[in-house]
Amino acid sequence: MVFIKTTLSLIKADVGSIAGHVVPSKELVKAVKAHVKSSGIVKSYYVFTTGDDVSILMAHNKGKDNEDIHKLGWDALERGAEVAKEQGLYGAGQDLLADAFSGNVKGLGPAVAEIEFEERPNEPFVVFAADKTDPGAYNLPLYLGFADPMHNSGLMLSPKMKKGFKFTIMDVAHTTGDKIIELKCPEDLYDIACLLRDNQRYVVESIHSNITGEQAVSVSTTRLHNIAGKYTGKDDPVCIVRVQGEFPATGEILSPYEICHYVAGFMRGSHTGPLMPVRSHSTISFFDGPPIVSAHGFCVHNGVLTEAIDLFDHPFWDHVRNKAADKAINIREQGFSGNAMLGMNELEYGGIKEKLGKLEKKFIVRK
Ligand code: F6R
Ligand code: MG
Ligand code: MG
Repeated sequence: MVFIKTTLSLIKADVGSIAGHVVPSKELVKAVKAHVKSSGIVKSYYVFTTGDDVSILMAHNKGKDNEDIHKLGWDALERGAEVAKEQGLYGAGQDLLADAFSGNVKGLGPAVAEIEFEERPNEPFVVFAADKTDPGAYNLPLYLGFADPMHNSGLMLSPKMKKGFKFTIMDVAHTTGDKIIELKCPEDLYDIACLLRDNQRYVVESIHSNITGEQAVSVSTTRLHNIAGKYTGKDDPVCIVRVQGEFPATGEILSPYEICHYVAGFMRGSHTGPLMPVRSHSTISFFDGPPIVSAHGFCVHNGVLTEAIDLFDHPFWDHVRNKAADKAINIREQGFSGNAMLGMNELEYGGIKEKLGKLEKKFIVRK
């Protein structure tokens, strides 16, 4: 019997929003959905927003990096950008950095995460989308969810996970190709930690089971400033995680988001802020933030997606959101000082560099 593999493709971009970098209009989202539907190319899809970004999740059997699928994602986002222009939305077409589609959306601006697999009898998975932050925002939650029994009790309790997982980590500072390293946990746990502490440079790209070799995770690793040559916005990453059975349980994957760890992004993509787990279609607010992450849960069966469920729409996360708000206020109290603002290389705007350049000429060395 030949099994047809299922591919999940998640393509996301900011193509315009209302009242600043806040939330796309209903018309824009409607246009993106209508384009995907009318194409007839994918069996099953789901369109949602997180902050100012629109995400398109597609289930199909054409495999990863498929030109038809990527073109569909690009065209749908372009359709959204057209509506944004018609409506006078802010930042219309912002993340569509290329003039035209050329084979694959990777490197053209949108964020992409894809996984291909033979469906298990039940195939549950979670789709994360974050706004006002970069791909390294997933480093800590993925490390804790897949490698730390403090969050993943299955590492102790389930024989299916006893051999742990393989992390594929990308050096996103390398721009002339994909520079990656494969490390296994538990064996290489400390080496993994050494890399993942640097969220701006080393980013988890994928995770596989050490027992079955099956892929559990795919993260979009796009760095917009590496594509555009200069900073054009934070990268607002997406991530797909297959859950249950040989993979962590849904709740084990969600558990680290209770920390609301500090990530890069926030106002002007140039600050440090806590990652707040939010409901689907959440807007952006305080100080163009705080950085947010949404989590949609699905099952896929014979290539068809179930309805989406909103995993952060639960009373527990209201409590966590208050904690994130406290952490946001705490760090904002120190404004531009020290760790509240990012280092020179991560600033989204060139203004400070220019100012420092001018000031440099005014410095004198006292005799
Ligand atoms: C951060 C972000 C916003 C903008 C800010 C200024 O990634 O999108 O914080 O940087 O609203 O936006 P512009 O420069 O478009 O006026
Ligand atoms: Mg934006
Ligand atoms: Mg965004």
